[in-house]
Amino acid sequence: MAPRTILVTGAGTGIGAATARRVAAGNSLILHCNNSKDEALELQEELRQQCVDVIVVSADLMTETGCRALVEEVRGRFSALDALVNNAGGMIERRSVAELTWEHLADSFALNTLSAMRVTALCVELLRGGNNPCVVNVTSIAMRHGAPSATAYGAAKAALDSFTRGAANELAPDIRVNAVAPGMIDTSFHDRVTPAEKMAKFVENTPLKRVGTVQEIARVVEFLLDNEFITGETIDCNGGLSMR
Ligand SMILES: NC(=O)c1ccc[n+]([C@@H]2O[C@H](COP(=O)([O-])OP(=O)(O)OC[C@H]3O[C@@H](n4cnc5c(N)ncnc54)[C@H](OP(=O)(O)O)[C@@H]3O)[C@@H](O)[C@H]2O)c1
Repeated sequence: MAPRTILVTGAGTGIGAATARRVAAGNSLILHCNNSKDEALELQEELRQQCVDVIVVSADLMTETGCRALVEEVRGRFSALDALVNNAGGMIERRSVAELTWEHLADSFALNTLSAMRVTALCVELLRGGNNPCVVNVTSIAMRHGAPSATAYGAAKAALDSFTRGAANELAPDIRVNAVAPGMIDTSFHDRVTPAEKMAKFVENTPLKRVGTVQEIARVVEFLLDNEFITGETIDCNGGLSMR
């Protein structure tokens, strides 16, 4: 396969870093980060031998300026993009419905929906120039089963899931757009927002009786990037915690 140019957002940590590692060999990578620049630079060092080219770009994707700065940097360095993995995101904090403020909702949607939609929009022309171009959005199990205390996060991910299908339809046949919806995955995501007892409860309710690994999600992303006949699809990877 010809070398690909792949942009992974939130690549300094967790699922993004695992995805970058998974797809690095023989390809060019843009490792996007926001606060985790040191981690992203370490990853760049680690992957230098395997990659044709690997660069780090930091940007706050909750802002229009940040989204533009990221894509400008990509455009300045590469003439086309073969893959975009919209992985950056997260839960601002757990809140009950009665505690949902305008600011909390705006932040939740900026981080999990607007960032990915805007970066995708800005990358369309670069992707059109790519080979078997594909976008993969990282959504969440939270959009599937009405998670209490995570309604803003779940709704924001559901919006991204809906965008996945709309964009897949509109951008076909040139660009495929898919999503992966992770279940409970062992990353620092949960350090802030999921106490140990809550995590144990999730595991108890999961048919496969464990949390998932970042590598398991990265393998799904790789599959979606490679398969040329899947578009508008969301693959759930959650140990059976939510079945459809
Ligand atoms: N872990 C899970 O159980 C789970 C389940 C379902 C879905 N997910 C989704 O999987 C994705 C990756 O999460 P993770 O579990 O790997 O946790 P993570 O390590 O906390 O990754 C989140 C990433 O988002 C980036 N990010 C956060 N705020 C940002 C901002 N304002 N601008 C740009 N980037 C920003 C972070 O970049 P910096 O560190 O550089 O700031 C970080 O790399 C997220 O979209 C999350 O919602 C995770």
